[in-house]
Amino acid sequence: MSVLHAPTIDLDRLLWRIGALAAIGDTGDGGACRLALTDDDRVGRELVAAWMDELDMRVEVDAIGNIRGTWPAEAQDPPVMMGSHIDTVRTGGILDGNLGVLAGLEVVETIAASGRSIERPLCVAVFTDEEGARYPPDMLGSLAFVGGIDLEAALGTVGIDGSVLGEELDRIGFAGAFPCPGPVPHSYVELHIEQGPVLEADGITIGAVTGVQGISWQEVVIRGQSNHAGTTPMSHRHDAGYAAGAVTTFVRDMALEMGGSQVATVGRISLIPDLVNVVANTATLTVDLRNTDGPSLAEAERRLSGFLDELAQAEGVTIETRSLAEFDPVDFDPDIVDLVERTAGALGHTVSRMPSGAGHDAQMLARVCPTGMVFVPSIAGISHNPAEATDRDDLGAGAAVLLGVVSELVGLR
Ligand code: GLV
Ligand code: MN
Ligand code: MN
Repeated sequence: MSVLHAPTIDLDRLLWRIGALAAIGDTGDGGACRLALTDDDRVGRELVAAWMDELDMRVEVDAIGNIRGTWPAEAQDPPVMMGSHIDTVRTGGILDGNLGVLAGLEVVETIAASGRSIERPLCVAVFTDEEGARYPPDMLGSLAFVGGIDLEAALGTVGIDGSVLGEELDRIGFAGAFPCPGPVPHSYVELHIEQGPVLEADGITIGAVTGVQGISWQEVVIRGQSNHAGTTPMSHRHDAGYAAGAVTTFVRDMALEMGGSQVATVGRISLIPDLVNVVANTATLTVDLRNTDGPSLAEAERRLSGFLDELAQAEGVTIETRSLAEFDPVDFDPDIVDLVERTAGALGHTVSRMPSGAGHDAQMLARVCPTGMVFVPSIAGISHNPAEATDRDDLGAGAAVLLGVVSELVGLR
């Protein structure tokens, strides 16, 4: 169908839903905190499921807690799936993930109200624990949905607070009856904020996302010896705090030296005993390495491993590592990338192709069905921060492109 005759989304209704969901876990500074499977995540899930109900969708919850709403409710054919996640990092914004889910509902409501016919059903998915901030790895729910992790192993994941994922899922009432892995969709399209500075800097409204860079997360535990901060000569120390700092500096220097798309982050560090006048005996930290090029990412991991060996030797500490997440770079379906680009152009928006720096549920869905993503700009490139924001018009443009792409995929007549 020509975009000129297509139904149009109701931006005010989409923004209203974004605001209503953002009120749950409101951090009071413009952000939201709904870490996966907490009480606030439960209330957010209940609200989205209630909206699905109001839209006459068939609501199903699977064994890892992913929520799927299908329209029309009785449809059984593989659907065109939209969606994302509504869990957040502790210092989250209100758009990351939420936009993809709520724009999906907006597309369903718009198509339903248009009275037009479709050749295949629509589905909106809310995937569990996309952030991985409470239960690593990230994208855990969508990974389980596509059969990329054993269900029992996923349910047994221990969180950063010592809780067990399966127990928390039970506790919040979202251990569903539907099987996981789930039924393979016809296709998957996710609208998301860019979470980086590229679109804004280039003055472009829509990103046609070509794929997602590879991700490697490790936990590093360094064990040395506690001692008196005043009496212990520098030459006699086995200082876990110093070693943690050295790892932090090393990964940053390495990323700068490697260049390209290599990035490196130490996002968590804790010291024991964590006191001003005691040399730390234990440091636990996380390293997040990402690169669009798989071999380069592997090279970064090798260099880090070599550095940890040298550091352990030089400081007289022991260092153990544990993999928390390991995902190869992913390419999206070329036809869907083309469709996103064409649709954005036909709607009069500037558009450019780009890879994603952040992880997304779409990278898991790409394992089983044709998949693509639509990006809209993030103001000042800020995300995983309460200041995360996108201009109203850009949100409207992204939702309109999602509607256009999905209309084509479902065969809207
Ligand atoms: C998850 O959203 C990530 O990219 O860390
Ligand atoms: Mn996200
Ligand atoms: Mn995120």
